[in-house]
Amino acid sequence: MIGPTTDMNDDLQLKTVLTSRITRQGKLTFAEFMEACLYEPGLGYYTSPGRKVGAEGDFYTSISVHAAFGRVIAREIAQMWRCMGKPVSFTLVECGAGNGRLAADILDYLKEREPDLYERLCLVLVEREPSLRSVQATLLSVHEGTVTWQAPDDFYTGRFRFSGCLYSNELIDALPVHRVVMMEDGLAEIFVTLKNGELAEEAGVPSTPELAAYLKRLGVSLLVGQEAEISLAAARWLESATRGLERGFVLTIDYGYQAAHLFAPHRSRGTLLCYYRHQVEDNPYIRLGRQDITTHIDFTTLADAGAELGLEPIWFGEQYRFLLSSGIVEEIEEIERSSIPEEEKLRLRLALKKLIMPEGGMGDTFRVLIQARAVETPRLLCQRGIGGVL
Ligand SMILES: C[S@@+](CC[C@H](N)C(=O)[O-])C[C@H]1O[C@@H](n2cnc3c(N)ncnc32)[C@H](O)[C@@H]1O
Repeated sequence: MIGPTTDMNDDLQLKTVLTSRITRQGKLTFAEFMEACLYEPGLGYYTSPGRKVGAEGDFYTSISVHAAFGRVIAREIAQMWRCMGKPVSFTLVECGAGNGRLAADILDYLKEREPDLYERLCLVLVEREPSLRSVQATLLSVHEGTVTWQAPDDFYTGRFRFSGCLYSNELIDALPVHRVVMMEDGLAEIFVTLKNGELAEEAGVPSTPELAAYLKRLGVSLLVGQEAEISLAAARWLESATRGLERGFVLTIDYGYQAAHLFAPHRSRGTLLCYYRHQVEDNPYIRLGRQDITTHIDFTTLADAGAELGLEPIWFGEQYRFLLSSGIVEEIEEIERSSIPEEEKLRLRLALKKLIMPEGGMGDTFRVLIQARAVETPRLLCQRGIGGVL
């Protein structure tokens, strides 16, 4: 377990909020603590001002590397539309759209290369942080009329019915997780409490039987002393996000593994990491609300939860496999053929390498899961190549 905080730069306001909550409740689950660090109104990492993604932020996502990432996804989206028999209306929904960069890259491609689809298209952005809407609107201004917004509270009710594709990039890793540790006498949960006025961890009886049931369902037995994170929020998110999906696809991009790898004995401390100005940190109790807190996601549970909701897993694999079979080579060839200066081409080649490098690059850490509802024998671009289903 991680030691108590000693950092003098803690965000005092958030610490005060957490301290009074712990005083009132006795202790917080790690999920409650993480929820506050990321989303406490005005104080959380994603709900306070400041650039999070890209060179001036705390971390890169694939989107910030190059538009080719979004363009390849757009190629796959166009193929989804064809697989569905080119319906006259097709809705894209992006959850956790951040600054809207991915949506812009997708729509730019579709407008330029797939005008028939673009004409029939509506893109709905669902983002938890409401202030990002104006940032997204500015970036997407050339697509005015095609883009609309829905508040999460409305969208997740399922009242909005749609057919098309629901996609997300690095959303699920930003959902709060519970943390558990296996003790001699069984599974315990790691709580956040106070010791001498400082945030500290304490293991205790799990706050919900769902945690043990989660591991049991997967057939996972943690070793004594092994810690792990459990995201109950991921399957709940999938259920609510797909309530309104009548027909179409769910495309999820994130870093994570199948359960057997995620909970493997060698991962004795779990996968929780914090990011601050491109530096990795494993102590979530410092820089409260000013550093990102993330964990790798469990794709097995996402696929299983989907299957129960009538979402058939179509394809699962590393991001580099997805990009290579869905069109990144064509994107690279276009860059090579273009008249941009040689120096710029070299810069782009290096950027794209980051996206597809199998070892150590983003191409290996990130994975893609595609699920389908009510689409008969879909034939996607990624299915042409390497990759598989869970
Ligand atoms: C790690 S960021 C990723 C942003 C963007 N997709 C990217 O790749 O750059 C996660 C985003 O998801 C948003 N978010 C978190 N939970 C959400 C939810 N349940 N519905 C919609 N957005 C959510 C956060 O506010 C944040 O903007």
